[in-house]
Amino acid sequence: MGCTVIVGGAFGDEGKGKIISHVAFKNNPKIAVRGGVGPNAGHTVVVGGRTLKLRMLPSAVVNDKIELMIGAGVLVDPQILTKEIQETHSEDRTTVDYKSALIEPKHIEMDRQGYLKDKIGTTGTGTGPANSDRIMRSGRLAKDESSISKYVGDVALKVNHALDSDADVLVEGTQGTLLSLYHGTYPFVTSKDVSASAICSDVGIGPKKVTDVIAVFKSYFTRVGAGPLEGELSAEETVSRGWQEYGSVTGRLRRAAPFDYELAKRSIMLNSANKLALTKLDVIFPKCQGVREYKKLTEDAKKFVEELESRLGVPVVYIGTGPDADHIIDRNG
Ligand code: IMP
Ligand code: MG
Repeated sequence: MGCTVIVGGAFGDEGKGKIISHVAFKNNPKIAVRGGVGPNAGHTVVVGGRTLKLRMLPSAVVNDKIELMIGAGVLVDPQILTKEIQETHSEDRTTVDYKSALIEPKHIEMDRQGYLKDKIGTTGTGTGPANSDRIMRSGRLAKDESSISKYVGDVALKVNHALDSDADVLVEGTQGTLLSLYHGTYPFVTSKDVSASAICSDVGIGPKKVTDVIAVFKSYFTRVGAGPLEGELSAEETVSRGWQEYGSVTGRLRRAAPFDYELAKRSIMLNSANKLALTKLDVIFPKCQGVREYKKLTEDAKKFVEELESRLGVPVVYIGTGPDADHIIDRNG
């Protein structure tokens, strides 16, 4: 495994949490470290029927042997972080980089009105205004916040030490490449780049240390908030196909469209993804629910996966067939 980076290939909500929870149990990395924007992300992980929704901690929290870290590039909301640490009993294994910047109440207030709310349709979690203060070099950092002082440390150093001693590190991206401030559908994007390079930079990992980049795609596309979505279905059509989903942070009905090969291809290029994970195959092909062996998929489902691999030119190594961490086909050897 070495240094494996898992990123969202589309508009977020690709099911990264589910893939990460499987990899966390299977590969037992020493460290899981989260990059990305901040608590605007919501990762859902289901283990043994129990559902966890995570906005700050790495999704690998499900394996209690893994050290959990949050990179310097990630915005920290101290209240959400503290709550998640308490709920998951991970006080003794969590480190937040001392240079992570803080989300303050004023940032949340600014994110819930005017242009950001009405035109962009942000998640209202304060991330854009907090990144703006950081760029103005006026924001406070994690090392300045006493309520989280016991979790603060040098994440970049710990992660690089681990990699230099050949330990495995799982790097968790958030959002999706098409929401990147640089490469996405500007201005309908998040407040930072979120491609694999940016996720590594959030943590302090240089490009030569990365072993694999896995881009996660859902079997159809969804998007919350404003911005273009090619082939968008009506709300009725979305429901009749059983593709309806509600945002895990905002509760909004996600807009849905069929899988977009052109955008997926571009996303793979931007991330230099060498492996893919495909989630929710069971939503498109209900007979595949819970299947764990590739050969047991129906013919039409296999055809879908094979067409995807041949058109995108990258192997699909994980296939999600249901919500639980072990509803998965693992072809990653
Ligand atoms: P912000 O990141 O809250 O500023 O929101 C900007 C845009 O990105 C909005 O369309 C949000 O719905 C979208 N967005 C941000 N984070 C996520 C995510 O984790 N999943 C899906 N959409 C997201
Ligand atoms: Mg989400």
